[in-house]
Amino acid sequence: MADLIKKAAEDLAAAKMVIALTGAGASVESEIPPFRGKGGLWEKFDPMEVAHIDSFLRDPAKVWNLLIKDMKDLLDRAQPNDCHKGLAKLEELGKMQTVITQNIDGLHQLAGNTDVIEFHGTFAWQRCMDCNTHIETRRVDMIEIPPRCHCGGILRPNAVFFGEMIPQQALWRSRQAAIDCDLMLVIGTSAVVQPAALMPVVAKESGSKIIEINPESTPLTGNISDYLIKGPAGATMNAIVAQLEKMI
Ligand code: APR
Repeated sequence: MADLIKKAAEDLAAAKMVIALTGAGASVESEIPPFRGKGGLWEKFDPMEVAHIDSFLRDPAKVWNLLIKDMKDLLDRAQPNDCHKGLAKLEELGKMQTVITQNIDGLHQLAGNTDVIEFHGTFAWQRCMDCNTHIETRRVDMIEIPPRCHCGGILRPNAVFFGEMIPQQALWRSRQAAIDCDLMLVIGTSAVVQPAALMPVVAKESGSKIIEINPESTPLTGNISDYLIKGPAGATMNAIVAQLEKMI
C-alpha cells in the first residue's frame, strides 16, 4: 500500500492536467450510504421502483415518501470528509483541474473544489415539473407530499433519474476533460453505470494514466486503470496529499 501511495504522489507531481471521477464511495465517510454492495440503498429498494422517471411520474408521492424525504435528511446533515478535503487540497496545490462527480450531495463544492461537474445533477435544488421554477431544497417544506411549486406543479429533485438523459453540458464538458487530462483519479465508484463509467475509458484512450481508489476492485481494475489503491478514500487521499506535499 505505501508503495502505491508514493507512486500516486509521484504520478500526480509529474502530471500536467489532473481530473477526478467520483462516486458514492467518496461520500460513504460522510455517512451517506452507497447504492450497491453491502449496506447499499439498492439492497433496500428496487432502483427501478423508486429511482426511475417512470415510477416518479406514476406515483410522485410514493417516491418522495420512500426515497427523497430520507435523502433530504441525510444530505442536510452531511459534511465533507477527508476524501473531499483531499481533492480540494490538490486543487489548492495546482494539481486538480476538474472533479466529475456522480454524487448529488454538493460535498465537493462545500470542501472547496471550484470546478465540479455534477454528472447526475444535484439534490441542492428542486424544480417544478410544470413551470420549471428552481427552488433550493432547504426552502422546500415537506408538509404536503409531493411538495408543490407556487404554481401548483409538483416538485422533483434537479437530479437525473434512471431513464433520463445526462445533462448535455455535463456530458460534453466531462468528455472534453477526460480527453484533455493526463491523469484521472477514479474514486469510490463501482464503474457499472453508463455513461459515467465510460469517462475513464475515454481518458485512457487519450493517453491518460488512471488511478483507482476503492476498497474493492471494479470492472476498470486491471483493464482500464493503471493501478488500484485498495483502501477507503479518506485515509488514502490524506496519505497521497501528505506525500505529494513533500515532493512539490
Ligand atoms: N472509499 C472509497 N470507495 C468506497 C468506500 C470508501 N470508504 N466505501 C465503498 N466504496 C466503493 C464501493 O466498493 C463501490 O465500488 O464505492 C463504490 C460505490 O458504488 P455504487 O454504490 O455503485 O456507487 P456509484 O458507482 O457512484 O453509482 C453510480 O448509480 O445508482 C446510481 O445514480 C446513482 O450515481 C449513482 C450511480
